[in-house]
Amino acid sequence: MSFVAPLILLRIWFGPKDPSVRIHRSLSGIRKMLHPPPHGKATRTTQLAARAAANRLLASAFGLTNTFVRNDIETNAAFRCRAGDLIAHTDWLRLLHISKAAVDASVLDLADSAPFDEFVQIATLRFIICGLLLPDIGPAMLDGDALRAIGSLITTIWVSLKDKDSSSAIDNLRAQLHTHLDALPAPVELDLLIPTWETFWRVVATTVANVEQDVDARTTFSAFLQAHDVAEQSRVSREHNLPSVFHYVLECLRLYPPVSHIKRAGPAKNMHTLSLITQALSLFPRNTIDIADIERAHRSAAVWGPDPTIFDASRFLRDPERTKDVLAFGHGPLKCIAANWAPTAVAVVVAAILDTVDGVHYRLEHGPRVGGRVGWDGWRLVNLEGRDGDLELKIM
Ligand code: HEM
Repeated sequence: MSFVAPLILLRIWFGPKDPSVRIHRSLSGIRKMLHPPPHGKATRTTQLAARAAANRLLASAFGLTNTFVRNDIETNAAFRCRAGDLIAHTDWLRLLHISKAAVDASVLDLADSAPFDEFVQIATLRFIICGLLLPDIGPAMLDGDALRAIGSLITTIWVSLKDKDSSSAIDNLRAQLHTHLDALPAPVELDLLIPTWETFWRVVATTVANVEQDVDARTTFSAFLQAHDVAEQSRVSREHNLPSVFHYVLECLRLYPPVSHIKRAGPAKNMHTLSLITQALSLFPRNTIDIADIERAHRSAAVWGPDPTIFDASRFLRDPERTKDVLAFGHGPLKCIAANWAPTAVAVVVAAILDTVDGVHYRLEHGPRVGGRVGWDGWRLVNLEGRDGDLELKIM
């Protein structure tokens, strides 16, 4: 007994408490957190373990087994290779064609009107599945209702992760999600679908929301739709002082980074000596969570000037160096492998949507604020042709 009492006291003083949280808000702090010195193979290994620990809930909620939830370097290398193969040697004209077909098929699913976020989810699922994951399937071959369910279930599961008591509800939602994925014309792995689609749809949605009423931006995206050398043209300004489609997408990635916080979890450093001893004995491990607050750094007036929350794609024309300060794809050894590919791919889908949402055939009703994963209240895509048709029927 006399041996146990001090241990209990030690546990109370130095034992596991809530993890200590360190938030990194500056660009330099974020870079240091995501790529700490000394650089080398050890950094990747440590970062993988810290990311897997931070993504524990994500792993169980979706049943993932990819590098985002695993701590070993072999899974990382294999997954980087698999994902890299999807976007290597991209035939951009094919993707342009698929984006048009994906949007056309998705507006056909619309009745009079539909929530804008739902529409973008369905169109981008068609684009990512047919453009990358199942290249032998055409966008029209995918069932709109199944895609609506897949998009909505992934979102609902993600949002439910914040609720500690939701695990049995999540099990149920995951089972439904797999039923819909299994009913697609060929199997689609969540391990690949989530990293390729879940951020992608939100960048498409926020870009459309911001440029839809901007005449210059519309003309630039419309000209881009006619491009032959898509990858090159995405970065070229139509006129000397006008942003390119890449600049518009980049400004969206700055203002609404879909991965707003990158987290790493692991054992604490720089702690009390006695606590370090107890940790070394693995009696009372204490954890820290490091959070790279990407959104905050992207909206800092010190970096971006007096109006950091204003959408202004031409800031990258005035100061091209600022391009490097957009950290939406992360930084360091685990930086996104699609950082160069994704902005052009987003622009391709945005161009196709703007071409259809032209105010004659379809119109976008704007809500009070731009959403993220959720929060698109008031944003609706309205089918103007459908309404005219109804009107004619009523008059007759
Ligand atoms: C706009 C779209 C995208 C955004 C904003 C984005 C963002 C990110 C971010 C922030 C990370 C770093 C995560 C971390 O440090 O923990 C990441 C990693 C990664 N992304 Fe993306 N991503 C996008 C699209 C894609 C696509 C289309 C692919 C595949 C074709 C992809 C494949 C990967 C892979 C494989 C990694 C892990 C790299 C590693 O661990 O070594 N991403 N992404």
